[in-house]
Amino acid sequence: MRMLVIGSGGREHALCWAISASPMLTKLWCAPGNPGIAQQAELVPIPAGNIPELVAFARAQAIDVVVPGPEAPLVAGITDALEQAGIACVGPSGAASAIEGSKSFAKEMCEAAGIPTARWERFDDPAAARELIQRRGMPIVVKADGLAAGKGVVVAAREEEALAAVNAFMEARVLGQAGAAVVIEECLQGEEVSFFALCDGEAAIPLGAAQDHKRVGEGDTGPNTGGMGAYAPPPHFPRELQQATMIGIVRPALAELARRGTPFRGILFAGLMLTAEGVKLIEFNARFGDPECQALLLRLRSDLLPALLAAHDGELSDFDLRWSDEASIAVVLAARGYPGSPRLGGEIRGIDRALAVPDIQVFHAGTALAPDGRLIAAGGRVLTVCATGRDLRTARDIAYQGVRAIDWPDGFYRQDIGWRALASG
Ligand code: AMP
Ligand code: GLY
Repeated sequence: MRMLVIGSGGREHALCWAISASPMLTKLWCAPGNPGIAQQAELVPIPAGNIPELVAFARAQAIDVVVPGPEAPLVAGITDALEQAGIACVGPSGAASAIEGSKSFAKEMCEAAGIPTARWERFDDPAAARELIQRRGMPIVVKADGLAAGKGVVVAAREEEALAAVNAFMEARVLGQAGAAVVIEECLQGEEVSFFALCDGEAAIPLGAAQDHKRVGEGDTGPNTGGMGAYAPPPHFPRELQQATMIGIVRPALAELARRGTPFRGILFAGLMLTAEGVKLIEFNARFGDPECQALLLRLRSDLLPALLAAHDGELSDFDLRWSDEASIAVVLAARGYPGSPRLGGEIRGIDRALAVPDIQVFHAGTALAPDGRLIAAGGRVLTVCATGRDLRTARDIAYQGVRAIDWPDGFYRQDIGWRALASG
């Protein structure tokens, strides 16, 4: 099997790591990848957004299967373009990716499918949005309707914050067209969980749940990020809730998308809130989470490749994946300044020392090789140090031992990944 993974983050490194273990693989490429991924795959210097060049490359190399990691190429229709060229792509079509690409589409789809979610309204008139905020009261959530790379959501405790978000998104257009319309939602209360299912258009199998740590600071403070760490499995999300989520959220979404003629194939990410009234959907994404993917794949005992192929071929209904009983954790190392302006270019040393700790994996994200061969920081989130252990405390201690072995003065990390689970039990 000749495979191409698209993307350059820790998620894509973990995907390449898992795929490269498959006996079915003959050759793996990654576009554009990063220096860590180069250990598992041949890097192709094509950006994830350049769909025509990616299709041309896949054709020229007779790639059998493409696995896109990030949302942007999916929403832009990379799956459609590849399939038209006769190349299998494990990811939703552009139309099905609208569950992530448009918040109002997702909300309206949930309503049609009877999926429990926060009450919402969409506005393209800022005055009407302001009026609702003043009428409803706090807390309230203001979201840019379009794709905003994690920067389009404001959970407002004060009216000024909510009004400022309307101004920033709709008037100042800080997110461009993505903020031309906003969705204003009821604020859900509870524990948050990221749940993943592999879908073949009709059937789906669970890939498990993880808890992300979105805020940059310890104790879940400071601005939102792409995710500063994750662990799996979350103790407050037992098997019964996973089953309830498959039945009440994942299957109805698949059925509704199929009914509309836009079936969802690929990895469905359900961001959940475990509320007092049961599991509610915060949002759908059309892809794996980062760093949730790293934490989840560390626990996978089966070959990932046949599962991806079954998802593509509509043959998941009898499929089963085996998972380790161990806990896993992923700690993100980011460049100082992230999520604002990360300090780039600093040298990173000691990854070998971290990898010498048993049960550790280090996945690269924003790293690059300087002309003289040194490994340097080239992005906001730079490394994910992951570990498994018989319980979360053990996995955490191992991961932080790895983190401390890395010598990168410009980097920082949260010391408290897993704290909600560790505090509860
Ligand atoms: P997103 O960027 O869409 O992943 O959303 C960022 C974060 O905003 C989510 O992970 C939640 O923590 C929070 N959030 C979004 N919608 C709601 C909601 N309706 N109620 C409470 N929190 C929310
Ligand atoms: N870590 C959350 C995300 O990937 O969107």
